[in-house]
Amino acid sequence: MSAGRLVLGIETSCDDTSVAVLEDGRALRAHLIAAQDVHRLYGGVVPELASRAHLELLPRLVARGLSEAQVAPGELTGIAVTRAPGLVGSLVVGVAFARAYGAALGVPVVGVNHVEAHLHAAALEHGDSPLPAVALVVSGGHTELVEVRGFGRYRWLGSTRDDAAGEAYDKVAKLLGLGFPGGPVLDRLAARGDRAAFAFPRPMLDRADLDFSFSGLKTAVALAVGRLGPPPHAGALLADLAASFQAAVMDTLVGKTLRAVDRVGARALSVGGGVAANRELRARLAAGCEERAIPLRLPSSRLCADNAAMIALVGSWLLERGDPVDADLDVVASLEESGLPMGGG
Ligand code: KG4
Ligand code: ZN
Repeated sequence: MSAGRLVLGIETSCDDTSVAVLEDGRALRAHLIAAQDVHRLYGGVVPELASRAHLELLPRLVARGLSEAQVAPGELTGIAVTRAPGLVGSLVVGVAFARAYGAALGVPVVGVNHVEAHLHAAALEHGDSPLPAVALVVSGGHTELVEVRGFGRYRWLGSTRDDAAGEAYDKVAKLLGLGFPGGPVLDRLAARGDRAAFAFPRPMLDRADLDFSFSGLKTAVALAVGRLGPPPHAGALLADLAASFQAAVMDTLVGKTLRAVDRVGARALSVGGGVAANRELRARLAAGCEERAIPLRLPSSRLCADNAAMIALVGSWLLERGDPVDADLDVVASLEESGLPMGGG
């Protein structure tokens, strides 16, 4: 089969093993995501188990991805792999595999920044963004508000000072005995609860900056739950707790995101990360963008969560730009040290 540039994307930064084959920076020929269920037993991601699972899953997933894409290994023109930020042991598995595979095939391997990939994931379904854009990345590990002026041209507008938004969902779900991950189940419960039943704080919403803080909110929920006695709680009460918690998170997230859009004079809003699957967040951002007559670039759930398609996308751009290939591909755990231009504003 004739083909243009064919980039294999590999994502192993946390607890999802994912592989994608992207043609010409546009067409997804294959996209596989294997969620590691083993962590559910522990109520959170266990790093050692995550790296071992990546090691087992990745070679099989690559073989399946290539077969679904109907691409022979020798047809690949490059490999893109997440090299930062994330769990070091998990990143190492992906990078070691990519380097070995790239060496065997004689194709270039580029390291991709996971958060930068979330900033651009919407481009896979929505095409190029009008600029400047504001991007919100909300996941279990990140809550970032970024002005995007182009590929590689970012101004950091705000971040969380403590827990990420998804982490708050996961911790509150654990507190309520609802299992892991907490986002989807709280999202469902919240839809039938009373958002005014509990008066939880809106952390940092009254401050002029665009930073977030969610650990105080989690404590407020813990105190309220403590007053109610141990779980399990009745369904209606759980729904009220979920709705009141979600209202506090979303008032803050939506409030600051739209404030960022107005301050920057953004011509588009992009969203990424697992929390972007949240129905209240999607609906409220859609309303805010409609009011401002700008497009909301919201990826489908698969492209919001951790996925290799966005890694292949940014990898394709890097390969196209032809930067010198960094043969070392050192992995980096933290966002701050991951090499993104994070100048503030
Ligand atoms: O991006 P992601 O798949 O992985 C990383 O954390 O990098 O995001 C997972 C996070 C978890 O914290 C999960 O609870 C949250 O996204 N999440 C949600 C929803 N679906 C997933 N949070 C709120 N509402 C949802 N519907
Ligand atoms: Zn992520």
